[in-house]
Amino acid sequence: MDVTQPPLGMLAELTHRCPLHCPYCSNPLELVTRANELSTAQWISVFDQARELGVLQVHLSGGEPLARPDLPELVSHASELGCYVSLVTSGLGLTESRFADLVDRGLAHVQLSVQGADAERANLLAGTKAHDHKLTAARLVKAAGLPLSVNVVLHRANHDQLEGMIALAEQMEADRLELANTQFYGWALRNRDALLPTREQLAAAEPVVRAAIERLRGRMQVVYVLSDYYEPYPKPCMSGWGAQQLTVAPDGTVLPCPAATAITTLSLENVRERPLAEIWYDSESFNAYRGEDWMREPCRTCDRRSVDFGGCRCQAFQLTGDAAATDPVCERSPDRGLVDLILEAPSGASEFVMRGPR
Ligand code: SF4
Ligand code: FES
Repeated sequence: MDVTQPPLGMLAELTHRCPLHCPYCSNPLELVTRANELSTAQWISVFDQARELGVLQVHLSGGEPLARPDLPELVSHASELGCYVSLVTSGLGLTESRFADLVDRGLAHVQLSVQGADAERANLLAGTKAHDHKLTAARLVKAAGLPLSVNVVLHRANHDQLEGMIALAEQMEADRLELANTQFYGWALRNRDALLPTREQLAAAEPVVRAAIERLRGRMQVVYVLSDYYEPYPKPCMSGWGAQQLTVAPDGTVLPCPAATAITTLSLENVRERPLAEIWYDSESFNAYRGEDWMREPCRTCDRRSVDFGGCRCQAFQLTGDAAATDPVCERSPDRGLVDLILEAPSGASEFVMRGPR
């Protein structure tokens, strides 16, 4: 019997508005417009409900959460509820006074995105002059004594700068560096052929990452997220569906994972219409792939099913049209050929398209 535990964390996507145009954006093709975003009062109610439900970590994300003028109020509220509040930001719009105010209100942690090792590449990949803002943001975070995580999405157009980006994170005095190969959801999926790293790039990255982990141990935690298409087994996505985290999209849609809007067969619910606790425990969407009862062969009897939970439901749906299928990344999946075909396709010629409104 599966007993559903309360969620530990909530990703609150305050807005889809964003000053960057990253080609690897995992937000859906169709973004929520400003007019459809939850109001301040509605977000405050979401935070109250989340805390009551058991949530202890609130990640304020987007889009760019700094685009919401009510961000200070939301930080205060989440922090007064006793939550650990993280800001997931591009750094654009983070001025000294704005940041000091957020810290006063209880902000506990900042995760900053980095697109490249130098201004030229980083600005090219962000589609705007972003790099200098990031250096400033990192300085502000460290000067305030807050922990800083740097997040780098790796792909074919920046893998060659891996060493430079590790050096940049060191220069920023990051406490944690996440080097994550692109996951192909939302906008990133349409750019997959251009973003997928090559086998050579991944082979070259491995010793660089290993050396950095060793050298920086105790100073900066380095986490490497593999390019799962090249792996024999899928990632344990979301630590299992509806198991530990929930996401609230800018319009109040509650998602079992940030990419769940990709599963068009899933009927999603909204905090405007149903209490968060009911959605977590009783909704069709959260219960659809919880535990193991939904699994078919080969997952149902597989010795790895409690390790990877059958992989990622969104990826299964995107590649096979069936969200209950074994993640096709798995070498035991009858659909692994779909992933191999993608890897064999001639690459290099295709250009990526910068993130646009739709
Ligand atoms: Fe994981 Fe299913 Fe593959 Fe087994 S068959 S390794 S449970 S995805
Ligand atoms: Fe949705 Fe993996 S991204 S389950």
